[in-house]
Amino acid sequence: MSYIRDVLNEEHDGSAVHLRGWVYRTRSSGKLSFIVLRDSTGIIQLLASTRKLQDDKYREISSLTIESSLEVMGILRKDDRAPTGYEVEIEDFKLYQRNENYPITKDQGEEFLLDNRHLWVRSREFTAMMKVRSTVFKAFADFYFKHGYYEVHTPFMVSTAAEGGSTLFKVPFFDEEVYLTQSSQFYLETMIFSLENVFTIAPSFRAEKSRTWRHLTEYWHGEVEAAWLHNEDMMQVEEQMIEYIVQEVVKNNTEELNALGRDVEFLKRIKAPFRRIRYADLIKMTESWGLGMKYGDDLGADEERAIMVHFDQPIFVTHYPSKLKTFYHMPDPDNPDEILCHDMLAPEGYGEIVGGGERISDLNLLEKRMEDYGLNKDNYYWYLDLRRYGSVPHSGFGLGLDRLVLWILHLDNIKEAIPYPRTIRRTKP
Ligand code: 4AD
Ligand code: MG
Repeated sequence: MSYIRDVLNEEHDGSAVHLRGWVYRTRSSGKLSFIVLRDSTGIIQLLASTRKLQDDKYREISSLTIESSLEVMGILRKDDRAPTGYEVEIEDFKLYQRNENYPITKDQGEEFLLDNRHLWVRSREFTAMMKVRSTVFKAFADFYFKHGYYEVHTPFMVSTAAEGGSTLFKVPFFDEEVYLTQSSQFYLETMIFSLENVFTIAPSFRAEKSRTWRHLTEYWHGEVEAAWLHNEDMMQVEEQMIEYIVQEVVKNNTEELNALGRDVEFLKRIKAPFRRIRYADLIKMTESWGLGMKYGDDLGADEERAIMVHFDQPIFVTHYPSKLKTFYHMPDPDNPDEILCHDMLAPEGYGEIVGGGERISDLNLLEKRMEDYGLNKDNYYWYLDLRRYGSVPHSGFGLGLDRLVLWILHLDNIKEAIPYPRTIRRTKP
């Protein structure tokens, strides 16, 4: 038994081959029937004819409908008219399932395809996306393993908010209530005191009520935390990581990128270092683009889109006013109204893919900030303990992995970058 890719790469005209998969397309003309077979690695044309098959067998195979599953034995023939340059003349076959009507046909609407996502995940374009996504997740982990980081696992059911109360999902938990985690950051921080450099890949949950092209209620979050590193050190780690992931995709997924119409040359040019721009300077830059922004305004999807059409590399935006971010960010000693943080914004209008920075490591300062934000310190006793026992400077970040896939593939909506998108209106299938 072989995969289609291996047959196309390694076998020759006249080889006997044995394949299995699903019917992708069919076309019949009297005594000849062409079936395009699909497996996880590619497609190949099969030829069924009464020359090789008994009448009843021929009737069985020539009437197959798409997505039926089968196994075929046959002879490989070079044929320039076939979609991948070869054809397999069928000598024998075994049907696993003959389908009646496959629900997905051409030109169906977005909602129908979302209702039938469990079938749509078989489509060629979705398969290409999932292969790229697989490379992205692997490259993220590989990058950190290569740099001596440890992978850790932290709870999804939590009793402390990391990113503010407005997007918390509450879940009944016996006689209490817990939240679904918005970020693994605080738990990662606990682990730097033993492992120093840690990462995790886990879902984060946000009760996002606004429907935008880049928000999910459940998304995949690659998060990193490292002892001793300051804000600038962490940005250097991140730009290397993004370059590495993008170049791994270029190296391993050229076929998928081409199939999805992505400009591969553009991706090849993504190279660290990325430009650093202070928030205040960015606001000044936006004046010449006529965006009507002033110091203190937050950057949302629309603002970032308007800004990032002017860049063809990712950028870091640093030194946000502290009131735009949450309580744990380290104030800039030279100007305590701004913080030592960074967002990485993706070019071509995509905007924020990373949020990170240096954490407050001083107990008194952290307690003061929690008071300013109206948080109950008792709930965070363990987070505060990290500043009581052996506190060290440290920094970290969170990367939205679905957003990274969205940008790398130049997709229109984050729902196209994840198999089962969860949004305010969708939890099925
Ligand atoms: O900027 P955020 O909210 O930062 C944090 O959660 C930090 N605690 C991370 C850390 O420092 N460990 O989220 C980080 C990233 C964003 O830059 C974005 O890429 C992604 O997570 N993200 C979302 N992706 C999809 N859907 C959503 N609703 C998202 N919210 C954030
Ligand atoms: Mg953010």
